[in-house]
Amino acid sequence: MTNETVSDTAPTVNSLWGGRFASGPDAVMERINASIDFDKRLAAQDIAGSMAHARMLSAQGIIEQADADAIVDGLERIGLAIAEGRFDFSRSLEDIHMNVESALAADIGAAAGRLHTARSRNDQVATDFRLWVRDAIDRLDHGLKELQAALIGQAERHADTIMPGFTHLQSAQPVTFGHHMMAYVEMIGRDRSRAVDCRKRLNECPLGAAALAGTPFPIDRGMTAAALGFDGPTRNSLDSVSDRDFAIEYLNTVSITAMHLSRLAEELVIWTSDAFRFVRLSDGYTTGSSIMPQKRNPDAAELSRAKAGRIFGHLIGLLTVMKGLPLAYQKDMQEDKEPVFDADDSIGLMVAAMTGMIGDLTANPEAMRQAVSAGFPTATDLADWLVRVAGLPFREAHHVTGRVVRLAEETGAKLEDVPLAAMRDIDDRITEDVYAVLTVDASVASRTSLGGTAPVRVREAVADARERYL
Ligand code: ARG
Repeated sequence: MTNETVSDTAPTVNSLWGGRFASGPDAVMERINASIDFDKRLAAQDIAGSMAHARMLSAQGIIEQADADAIVDGLERIGLAIAEGRFDFSRSLEDIHMNVESALAADIGAAAGRLHTARSRNDQVATDFRLWVRDAIDRLDHGLKELQAALIGQAERHADTIMPGFTHLQSAQPVTFGHHMMAYVEMIGRDRSRAVDCRKRLNECPLGAAALAGTPFPIDRGMTAAALGFDGPTRNSLDSVSDRDFAIEYLNTVSITAMHLSRLAEELVIWTSDAFRFVRLSDGYTTGSSIMPQKRNPDAAELSRAKAGRIFGHLIGLLTVMKGLPLAYQKDMQEDKEPVFDADDSIGLMVAAMTGMIGDLTANPEAMRQAVSAGFPTATDLADWLVRVAGLPFREAHHVTGRVVRLAEETGAKLEDVPLAAMRDIDDRITEDVYAVLTVDASVASRTSLGGTAPVRVREAVADARERYL
């Protein structure tokens, strides 16, 4: 991102399109119209697109080779100036496209005027924005891969660490902390594959659609598409300049990712609370309170939880901007960029914070084990044993187990501490063997079905995930 300021000059007739205008725009008109304050983030893509276009124009004999060379060299210098923060953006030049073109004219003179042959800002901005979103997808994929690596690392460390598994946030059945970490690895794996899908669909080049109808110049759209790393040119000029579905799809992908990360964030908030103490975040990812010296607040997790909200807002925002727009380009579409830029900033921070928090956290197996023994987490194991060994139908087994649980509750015992005689009073098909399935360790170890929480399966899942994702 560049952080140059944008300067305001007294509005004058625009030198790039002002031929038919006698006076410049009102100051308010200039402010509502200008996009340079945000679309300067497209500078690198705009310059790459213009270079590809200039080279194609000369390869096709549409402009002189010498003019194309001067244009490309000039664009190179402008790109460097922008990257180094030495460029004066001007609001009266509206947007990144005209800021660059006007700087090119100042640098190389008349030849700059040939660059805009056979193109329009409409196909130009559609191209720049696709390139930008493509880079954003690649950044997202890379960040998510690192988050998966951090989760997989914790999963491996804690393949045997038993914690309560919850439904309704009530202790349900014991699972391992490693298994819980691996659940997020799978969610993020699907997020990454959604990003890859979205990248495939967006990777067609609109350049050459010109304003909306194509151009009479003998351009080579395949050449510019290839130079910019697209799979090929888009097929319909009207569609090329007027759809932003790729940006919406990106926001959708980011929204689902943010939804997933907000759940992990929420779990970190719960797990770090005094009531749980399942994990401790590192000092680097914790803040103190200015009044309560004992506090270690999980602010990064809370803010990640919250940022999901603004990202969802951007998705709905852009859908609403695009809804009902007639073909082809409408200026409304200039409002496509800020939501995407902010979503990229927000998800980037979320992913980085989550990777740091997960990588650095210390799990507390004692607290997890203490919590797991509350709430009869092996009741299902007792019912399953009654079905498997004693041959009861599951519904009957469920009922018998319910009675054993009530007895344990009344006597303040864990299931594995209820005496055999007392259990046999409830159902005499219960034998000594039942105790083998009533501990949490036995319960977890028995869940060896594919995708289950048994430590052997978690270790396999870790190895498999390393293979598939890292
Ligand atoms: N700044 C404009 C945008 O972002 C560029 C395209 C302008 N095209 C036009 N015909 N005014 O959409």
